[in-house]
Amino acid sequence: MLDPVAAVGPVLCVVGARPNYMKMAPLLRAFAAEPAMPSALLVHTGQHYDFALNGRLFADLQLPSPDVNLEVGSGSHAVQTAEVMKRFEPLLDAHSPSCVVVVGDVNSTLACSLVAAKREVPVAHVEAGLRSFDRTMPEEINRVLTDQIAELLYTTERGALANLEREGVDPARVHFVGNLMIDSLHAALPRAVAPAATLSAEGHPADLIGKGFGLVTLHRPSNVDAPDALAALLEALAAIAARLPLLWPMHPRTRASIERFALVEALRAPGLVCLPPQGYLEMVGLMNAATVVLTDSGGVQEETTALGVPCLTLRENTERPITVEQGTNTLIGRDFPALRAAVESILAGGGKRGRLPELWDGRTAGRIARHMAQWLRAPRAARVIG
Ligand code: UD1
Repeated sequence: MLDPVAAVGPVLCVVGARPNYMKMAPLLRAFAAEPAMPSALLVHTGQHYDFALNGRLFADLQLPSPDVNLEVGSGSHAVQTAEVMKRFEPLLDAHSPSCVVVVGDVNSTLACSLVAAKREVPVAHVEAGLRSFDRTMPEEINRVLTDQIAELLYTTERGALANLEREGVDPARVHFVGNLMIDSLHAALPRAVAPAATLSAEGHPADLIGKGFGLVTLHRPSNVDAPDALAALLEALAAIAARLPLLWPMHPRTRASIERFALVEALRAPGLVCLPPQGYLEMVGLMNAATVVLTDSGGVQEETTALGVPCLTLRENTERPITVEQGTNTLIGRDFPALRAAVESILAGGGKRGRLPELWDGRTAGRIARHMAQWLRAPRAARVIG
């Protein structure tokens, strides 16, 4: 039985950093279209603030301007997480939300979950249960802890349930709904910007990529925070760029490291084209047309699987194993001879074809909205809290 007075407060939807926006945009639209959902307020923590990482993506994804911006900015993990917590708590007093919705695994995800859980406001975590089993990644800590304190756990792949059960999470809290990233991808594909237009807009000749190109995205601390590791990576990219032009929209963290370690010269390798961080419509256009994608991003592993484009992941592990088992992803780690061999094999006509994982169908947001509306209106005692 539904209790119409159980869920009077709004739902606070939290975003902090670039990968959150692709997940929240379709969800907010689905919440607005679901009559039984309370109103939703968009809270931006301000973890990402540059126009290229932030403002441009909001426009591309048709995300409304945030109702609240906490403007925390950059800092150490402790400082950033603590600032989000301090600034988020008063929102719970001001709005008496019925639920806090968090996505992904960034510092803002954990910070807001922790504040809400301690104030007994239910937390819904979208993209729950993913595990790299690598506790040196800050995101892994954020995932494990957020999943422990969230009441609703929405998963993107069936394997996530086993990860959560192993950590003692009641399976009744877990709901397999599919992948919101793919909802955004579907929405963006018809509006995607052609790579030639992106190159021209950045002042590069469009014919550079006439015979295909590779796309590079790298920002993980394990690849970009140490001078030797970064120098070796740049050398490997230069060798590949001599065979296949590489377009590299560069995260500010990576650019800062290259400058700090005096490695700027390595960027002049023939065929290596550095670009500023791109908008979402440009990125979708680049990924869709790429011969191969070289990345350490989580979201890009999923997007390439959905697009059927070969992806070489420069990490030792992935929290998204379905992209390897069913999709187009191959884990390369930091084995650069293997990286060059994999690129050669793709150029020779190979590369994984893969298939679309279950429920990566572009309709995940509607499934979450329908489930959450029911859940929020059920009497609190009838909800499962494991
Ligand atoms: C964060 C997420 C990571 C995600 C990535 C996507 C955590 C722990 N990490 O990493 O999971 O894959 O976002 O981009 O939450 N900076 C700017 N402008 C900005 C934001 C950051 O120049 O708008 C620079 C600053 O020098 C900052 C550095 O990038 O110190 C790192 O930013 P931060 O948000 O701490 O982590 P990311 O590396 O972006």
